[in-house]
Amino acid sequence: MDTNSTTTRVLVTGGTGMTGRRITRLLSERGVDHRVGSRAGHPETGTPRFDWDAPETWDAVLEGVDAVYLCYHPDLAFPGAADIVSAFAAKAAATGVRRMALLSGRGEPEAERAEQQVRSVFPGLTVLRCSFFAQNFSEGFFVSAVLSGTLALPVADVPEPFVDLDDVAEIAVRALTGEGHAGELYELTGPRALTFTEAGKALASATGRPVEYLEVTRAEFVAGAAADGLPEEVAQGLAALVTEILDGRNVAPADGVERALGRPANGFEEYAAKAAEAGAWSRG
Ligand SMILES: NC(=O)c1ccc[n+]([C@@H]2O[C@H](COP(=O)([O-])OP(=O)(O)OC[C@H]3O[C@@H](n4cnc5c(N)ncnc54)[C@H](OP(=O)(O)O)[C@@H]3O)[C@@H](O)[C@H]2O)c1
Repeated sequence: MDTNSTTTRVLVTGGTGMTGRRITRLLSERGVDHRVGSRAGHPETGTPRFDWDAPETWDAVLEGVDAVYLCYHPDLAFPGAADIVSAFAAKAAATGVRRMALLSGRGEPEAERAEQQVRSVFPGLTVLRCSFFAQNFSEGFFVSAVLSGTLALPVADVPEPFVDLDDVAEIAVRALTGEGHAGELYELTGPRALTFTEAGKALASATGRPVEYLEVTRAEFVAGAAADGLPEEVAQGLAALVTEILDGRNVAPADGVERALGRPANGFEEYAAKAAEAGAWSRG
């Protein structure tokens, strides 16, 4: 195992989210001490609450921690994120944190600015620059779309090399607990790009229900996301982000997973079968 015995405790911000819960699960399986960063905190285990928007919560959550997974919410490319995450990273560096991994987004100039800002206070940062998550379809904002049979986006049906978060989590854990990843920038994608129509076909084959792609206007997309429970501001931000990144710039798969793990990235069909097996779409 690629684990350094001098690592004592990993802080996983976004520890209850899609990437964070995979990371905490792997850390638990590998016997690595860790702390879940969440606004709820866990008073029964003495885990303090953590809130990106409440800097007064930062000191307590960093106490005794020597590796940090940075996962900003709602999105690293949103206004203000770079300043908040880099301020937290600076505090972590000052308290003696030795390893840090930042979850970022591919083809997003604002997220790249945040990466640079965090790296300026923590040069050993490992950047996990991800394509569109496959798990958006099974755990994220596209679950109800899959269940309804229509994937609606305000963009043309471009190909995207969806990344499996099981790969991302494995790389994060290696970067946070082992040597050889400091200062690296990993562009993380799946092994090949699929259009949303092709992704819908793969999801249909895994779920046994039809899933089709539909290009909608930006206003229709925002209304749909808000109806699914996203705050209006986040829905607007998401519309702007997908319009920006799903313009063909991210079509080419990258070699980050292979470089970090020494094996090919998981494919979308494999992901879909795994998610169906786990019951991701069994409701509705
Ligand atoms: N979706 C994609 O395709 C994609 C692609 C590339 C990069 N990204 C990046 O992925 C990140 C999101 O990661 P994810 O999908 O793993 O998370 P997620 O599933 O969206 O979960 C959000 C996490 O953030 C926590 N959270 C929410 N508000 C918070 C606050 N004010 N302070 C502290 N924690 C807060 C939540 O914990 P509690 O509710 O327990 O507090 C939860 O653990 C974003 O930065 C985005 O830029 C996403």
